[in-house]
Amino acid sequence: MPPVPRQLSSKLRGWVAADPLLREKNISASFGIACYPLHGASPQELIQVADASMYLSKHQGGNTVSTADHVDPNEARRWKRDVLEAYLGVTLKRLFTTGPEAFEEIYLRLRQFTDSLPSTEIAQDPPPDGPRALPQSILDTVTSLAYAIDAKDQYTQGHSQKVSAYAALLAEALGMSDLEVEEIRLGAVLHDVGKVGIPEIILNKSGPLNLEEWDTMKTHVTFGGKLLEPLVPLGRIREMVLHHHEFFDGSGYPEALAGEKIPLGARIITIADSYDTITSDRSYKKGRTADQALSELERCAGTQFDPHLVQAFVRAMRQLPNPIIEIASLLSRTS
Ligand SMILES: [Fe+2]
Repeated sequence: MPPVPRQLSSKLRGWVAADPLLREKNISASFGIACYPLHGASPQELIQVADASMYLSKHQGGNTVSTADHVDPNEARRWKRDVLEAYLGVTLKRLFTTGPEAFEEIYLRLRQFTDSLPSTEIAQDPPPDGPRALPQSILDTVTSLAYAIDAKDQYTQGHSQKVSAYAALLAEALGMSDLEVEEIRLGAVLHDVGKVGIPEIILNKSGPLNLEEWDTMKTHVTFGGKLLEPLVPLGRIREMVLHHHEFFDGSGYPEALAGEKIPLGARIITIADSYDTITSDRSYKKGRTADQALSELERCAGTQFDPHLVQAFVRAMRQLPNPIIEIASLLSRTS
């Protein structure tokens, strides 16, 4: 970076850091720098580079100066990807509220990010398949989005992780391969990611939803399906997310699919989702015991749930010394 802008930004950053009032309020400064003619010929181009660089600084935790310091095209491509990753990260951190606008913003950023991936990473023939075909940063972004939505309600904190653990347990009990279990695990983490499109007033309503609110709430499955659309290698996971509220007898949503027309992963996730909801406290009810929850699953086998899968789940859960997974135990396992 040319010396003058860097000196200027360092001075600015120093002034901000030294100001007692700003320090007390924990305000930091992030700078993005663009120089004419190095980074652009028009004011618009310069502003774009400076803005993108500022996002990089924010993403690095603030109190940083960034610019587009690249000459060869490979570095330029990497810089563009870093910027989009930073955009996603910063957008997520700012996700104070959910609703259709929040959805649009995240969806747009995801699209831009996947469009920016080099052709070797995403558009091979045949196209790479499954989560491993995507950069880890993009998977981290969508999973942290799912966790952020859970965390909006003290009662649902950890729900996605627990559903994921139960779903993986069932997938393993069915003898699925490691790769299939990995997909089910991720699908279960993301099952409610579409709730980012539901207005918070409905998402966190403590009383029962009226009919209109309920209809809005149901759209979380289509929001989830759309959100994952740009991530082509996650096609099967997208299907799980879209169909996790279908009922085995065809009375669910969004497409009223029945029996084995419902993707296997979605049939697994719906059992894991219901089991965790039944055994957990909510604002409107106390969690029930594992025995009560398993009986409830058996009662709804054939109508809501795939009866063979319920049987396998009940058998697997009865073999566990503690059939209710606590979020704390999952966190200690991953830390
Ligand atoms: Fe759901």
